[in-house]
Amino acid sequence: MAPPSKQDAIVIVGAGVFGLSTALSLAQRNFTDVTVLDRMAPPVPDGSSCDISRIVRSDYSDPFYARMAKEALEAWRAGPFANLYHNSGFVLTSESRPDAFLEKLKGVLAGQDIPYESFNSSSELKRKFPSLNEIQTDFGGYLNPNGGWADAAASISRLATLCTEKGVSIITGPRGTVKSMRITNSRIEGVNVALGPPVLGSRVILATGAWTNGLLDLIYAMSSSGQPVGFIQLTPEEAHSISKMPTLINMTSGFFVFPPTPGTNILKVACHSHGFETRQPVDGTDRTISAPKRDLNNATSFFIPESADSALRHGLRQILPRFADRPWIRRRLCWYTDTPEGNFVVDHHPSIEGLFIAAGGAGHGFKFLPILGNYISDCFEEKASVEVREKWRLRSDPGVRLPFVCNDGSRRGPPRRVLSKFEQARL
Ligand SMILES: *[C@@H]1O[C@H](CO)[C@@H](O)[C@H](O)[C@H]1NC(C)=O
Ligand SMILES: *[C@@H]1O[C@H](CO)[C@@H](O)[C@H](O)[C@H]1NC(C)=O
Ligand SMILES: *[C@@H]1O[C@H](CO)[C@@H](O)[C@H](O)[C@H]1NC(C)=O
Ligand SMILES: *[C@@H]1O[C@H](CO)[C@@H](O)[C@H](O)[C@H]1NC(C)=O
Repeated sequence: MAPPSKQDAIVIVGAGVFGLSTALSLAQRNFTDVTVLDRMAPPVPDGSSCDISRIVRSDYSDPFYARMAKEALEAWRAGPFANLYHNSGFVLTSESRPDAFLEKLKGVLAGQDIPYESFNSSSELKRKFPSLNEIQTDFGGYLNPNGGWADAAASISRLATLCTEKGVSIITGPRGTVKSMRITNSRIEGVNVALGPPVLGSRVILATGAWTNGLLDLIYAMSSSGQPVGFIQLTPEEAHSISKMPTLINMTSGFFVFPPTPGTNILKVACHSHGFETRQPVDGTDRTISAPKRDLNNATSFFIPESADSALRHGLRQILPRFADRPWIRRRLCWYTDTPEGNFVVDHHPSIEGLFIAAGGAGHGFKFLPILGNYISDCFEEKASVEVREKWRLRSDPGVRLPFVCNDGSRRGPPRRVLSKFEQARL
C-alpha cells in the first residue's frame, strides 16, 4: 500500500498521549482530515495518560530511549508544555553497592553526555536533599539533576487544545466509543461506534493503550498490567517542608514517590513493577484478555490489592515515614501496556491494509509527549529511520499464546499476579 496522503481520512482511536501527539503531529504536517475518538473527553479519567504526575527521566539502559528522552526533556523545557514540567531531579536508589543495573544506566548517561552525581550512602543523599532527613536505612545510588516530573492531566488537556487549534476533530461520548473495526477484504474502512453510523476513514490508527487487545488480538505483542498508585493530602506546611525533594525511585522494590504537587499539596506514590492482570471477556468472542474494564468503567474505584497497598506504605515508610500511615485520598491501578522488551509497537498492520498500531507504552511512554507524535508520524508516513522502524516493529504472530513478562530490566518487586475474581469484582 502507498504511504498515506495528506487528504486521507484518518481516524485515530484513543485520546491518550499516543493518539493525541500523533494527531497534532499529522495536523502540523498538513494532514487535513484527522479525527480522534475516545469514550470520554481527554484527559480520559481511566486512561493511563491521566492524573497528577508522570516521571520524566532520561535514565535508560537502552541508549535509543536515553537519546530520545534527552530530546524530549529539551522539548518539555522549551515548548508549550514548559510550565507543566518540574525539574525536581531524579534519584535512583539501591541497597546493592555497586548495583549492576544502575551502573549500566550511568554508562549510558555518560555516553549521551548527560551528567549525574553518584552517592554511596543515604547521608550523602540527605546532604543534597535535607527534605529527606528522616531516612534511616543506608543505600547508594545516583541523582540525575536533569529530570523530574510532568503534570499528566494538564499536559494532555493542553495537547488536546493544540490539536483542535490545528483543525483536528475530537469526538467523545457514544459517537466516540469504538466497538469494533470495519474491515472488508482485508482493508480497513473505519470503525463502528456505540451510537449512530460508523466513523469512516481510509486509515485507522489504534492508539488504544491497555484496551488494544479488545479490538485486535495482539496478545503475543502486548499485554496490560495494572500498577498501584496512591495519593495522600498534605497540609501546605507539610508540602512546603518537602517541596525541594527529588522524584525518587527505589530500584530494589520499584516503589517511587514524587514531590508534592504545588498548589494542591498532594503526595503521590506508585510502583514500577510487574503489576496485576485481569481476565476480561471480549465482546462477541470466547477470548479473555488482561485489560481495564471498558464499559461501566469505574474510574472512581479506589481498589488496589492489599499486597500493593502494603508495598506502597512500606516504600513510603523508608523515605518519608511521617506520612506513611496517612489515609489515601485516592488509590487506583494505572494500566501499563507491556511489551516483551519494553519497546513501543508503532507499525502498519502486516495484513489489514490501512490499519496502523501506536501502542505498547510499557509504562514509560508519557515522558515523550512533546516529541512522540513526530516519531509515530514518521513511522506512519514511512519516513522513519531503520533503527526506529525495527525497534517498534509489530512482531509476527508466533501462533502460541504464551504469557510474557516485560523484561526491559527496570521492573522490580513481586512477579505479575492475576487478580482473583473477588478482587476483579471490586475494580
Ligand atoms: C504546511 O502548509 C503550510 C501552509 O501552506 C506550509 O507553509 C508548510 O510548509 C507546510 N508544512 C509541511 C510540513 O508540509
Ligand atoms: C560504598 O559503600 C559500600 C557499603 O558501605 C562499601 O562497601 C563500598 O566500598 C563503598 N564504595 C565506595 C566507592 O565508596
Ligand atoms: C527499597 O526497597 C527495599 C525492599 O523493600 C527496602 O529494603 C529498602 O529499605 C528500600 N530502600 C529505600 C531507600 O527506600
Ligand atoms: C463504582 O464504585 C463505586 C464505589 O466503590 C460503587 O458504589 C459503584 O457501584 C461502582 N460502579 C460501577 C459501575 O461499577
